[in-house]
Amino acid sequence: MARHLITSALPYINGIKHLGNMVGSMLPADVYSRYLRQRGHEVLYICATDEHGTPAELAAKEQGLPVAEFCASAHDAQKAVYDGFALAFDYFGRSSSPQNVEITQHFARKLNENGFIEERAIRQVYSPADGRFLPDRYVEGTCPHCGYDKARGDQCENCTRVLDPTDLIEPRSAISGSTDLEVRETKHLFLLQSKLQHEVEEWVARHEEEWPQLAASIARKWLNEGLHDRAITRDLDWGVPVPADTWPDLAAEGKVFYVWFDAPIEYIGATKEWADQDPENRDWKSWWYDADDTVRYTEFMAKDNVPFHTVMFPATELGVREPWKKVDYVKAFNWLTYYGGKFSTSQKRGVFTDQALDILPADYWRYFLIANAPESDDSSFTWEHFTATVNKDLADTLGNFVNRVLSFSKKRFGEAVPAGGEPGEAETRLGAEIATLLAEYEAQMEALQFRKAAAALRALWSAGNSYLEEKAPWLEIKTDKDGAALTLRTAMNLIHLYAVVSEPFIPGTAAAMRQAFSLEEDTATWITPDEARALTAVAAGTPFTVPPVLFAKLTDDDLDAYKERFGGEPQPA
Ligand code: 2FM
Ligand code: ZN
Repeated sequence: MARHLITSALPYINGIKHLGNMVGSMLPADVYSRYLRQRGHEVLYICATDEHGTPAELAAKEQGLPVAEFCASAHDAQKAVYDGFALAFDYFGRSSSPQNVEITQHFARKLNENGFIEERAIRQVYSPADGRFLPDRYVEGTCPHCGYDKARGDQCENCTRVLDPTDLIEPRSAISGSTDLEVRETKHLFLLQSKLQHEVEEWVARHEEEWPQLAASIARKWLNEGLHDRAITRDLDWGVPVPADTWPDLAAEGKVFYVWFDAPIEYIGATKEWADQDPENRDWKSWWYDADDTVRYTEFMAKDNVPFHTVMFPATELGVREPWKKVDYVKAFNWLTYYGGKFSTSQKRGVFTDQALDILPADYWRYFLIANAPESDDSSFTWEHFTATVNKDLADTLGNFVNRVLSFSKKRFGEAVPAGGEPGEAETRLGAEIATLLAEYEAQMEALQFRKAAAALRALWSAGNSYLEEKAPWLEIKTDKDGAALTLRTAMNLIHLYAVVSEPFIPGTAAAMRQAFSLEEDTATWITPDEARALTAVAAGTPFTVPPVLFAKLTDDDLDAYKERFGGEPQPA
């Protein structure tokens, strides 16, 4: 059994995330973690809020709160939603934690000792009216490439080009709106990534064959464009301070590290946060330091994050010249669109995770999103597709099967699993089919192919329905009571099997299915295809109850109401 370290891209602190964010990072990471835990592996799933940078400062300002206060409450608000989605993090930390400050400063000192950091004077936008420099998003103006007039200093949202604040035409302060801006010289720390290009290339070359094509091609593209030296400090109040022991002048000026420098380090920081809560029993370093032979590290992220995690952060880790664990496998996702258009946090378009839970329980979303994850291409969310999938797969194929079997058995045989006769030809065929599908399901999960895994799970549910239709215990019982009892006992074993193998996708429903049976031993452990247990784990005589309807069918009125509330038409990109 391996030790699996799993992380998902750290969600920015500035606001509740939409379904597109969820499906490309935290949700698949949770599904995979749950699967590995069930298979008996040691798993550590770490995530955190990404709390530094101009987005945090600007969001706090909008709410009229001090940044620290804003971040604390925004962290709790995000955590509550993730709990609602049943994301079973081992720890959900905060990049503003003292642990992250300590490790980030350590990384910077080591990079400096090893000759990978240099102080350089650069020209920055300064606002006399605000009495400060205006980094990144603190400047807005017209994009020099496409003419969009609300471009931000770090990037144009319209044409997605990366910008420098000094590139903007007719720049204005995002704080005061002042257009009285000047360019002043100021000193910043630069990470000399160009010196690390060769090493990163070698490291990528050793890994890219194993990575999904999306991750490998993005890494290659960035390497081909060449690694550039990058400013890793900013003139902001909020962030990891530049350590005074190493850079007294910059520290005195109140410089902090750029958010993209400290955010990936927070994967390590959050692991220490986790360990510090129970230092006797938790060893954060064993997951991150000198752990190449003992830990397998899998990261989940959307494609915009891939350059940072396949090229830039590895460059940082290599430059530190200490044996910090680097990612083994990068699971990258394309975009989930909303009716073919962009989900947008800033323009509040699409379905947000808190709204989703307002409408329906987590399992409806978890299943739909993973079954339609944007793995090989972008995929589109529409309410039509969502309601049809819920009705067909969850309500009809799974939910109805469970209720039909248990209600009918209770009515005819009472509240314990009936005994019936010996398994016959139909059960042997079913057993073989189940074994094949289970093997397929496992193989797809091991390969992190979530859509295909969902299809295999759905096929397992369908196999139960076909068996039930074939045996038709409601007719069988009229002529062969023992035969009907056997059919129901077999179907109940399928329900138990579904409870086990559906857990990564729909943990709430899985628990309800499992708890329908009063079993003596822990039954949550995986059932492998070669085990006869698949159709016999629940013995005759086991007491059971009929759970409430597992999935409600969504009506045309529901569909209309969702479209009315959220809009159901393509949006201009
Ligand atoms: O793109 C984002 O949402 C970033 N907050 C992800 C950071 S991931 C890691 F590096 F911290
Ligand atoms: Zn533009």
